[in-house]
Amino acid sequence: MRLYHAPASPFVRKVMVLLHEACATDRVEIVPVAGTPLDPGTLPVDRNPLGKIPALERPDGPTLYDSRVICRYLDDLLGAGLYPAAPHLWDTLVLEATADGIADAAVLMRYEDHVRPPAARSSEWVEAQWAKVSRALAAIEGRWLSHLRGPLDMGQIGLGCALGYLDFRHAGRDWQAAHPALAEWWGAFSARPSMKATAPDI
Ligand code: BEZ
Repeated sequence: MRLYHAPASPFVRKVMVLLHEACATDRVEIVPVAGTPLDPGTLPVDRNPLGKIPALERPDGPTLYDSRVICRYLDDLLGAGLYPAAPHLWDTLVLEATADGIADAAVLMRYEDHVRPPAARSSEWVEAQWAKVSRALAAIEGRWLSHLRGPLDMGQIGLGCALGYLDFRHAGRDWQAAHPALAEWWGAFSARPSMKATAPDI
């Protein structure tokens, strides 16, 4: 299998953390790519018409995308056990979706400040994205801490990758000061070997 990959992407990182946790990094060949919404560059537009990564090329079927589809596929293939049976599955999926929403908003903020032409940038729009992030962090801190202390699942991994991206690209926002209980969880989670092995370069 071939994984279209960029180390800064929190969505690619989810797939890589899953592979590390399942001791299966040797099952994929990494294909480094780079691009932006304005210039797809080497992004696999022929494999994923949306031009987004991660995308997973399989020998025996069509290319899979996006990260949630790829993670469900690999979890099933490798028997990783990162998606529990229902009814716990619904919690895992909602937490993963919330974490992906945080990462989505944070990536859009990055694009607005670094990809969109300066004259077209909107600080109001950036702050609206950050408001989504803040609401989601508050909701997780308010409702999800007991889930976060439970068995490892893809919701926790997605959240770890989203928080890692906030530290990587938006450190100045200091989300940890406003969410100390979540920051404490993150301190322990980020020390997992799978998270250390996949941390984007700072
Ligand atoms: C980044 O450089 O922040 C980035 C790269 C790829 C996907 C998403 C974000």
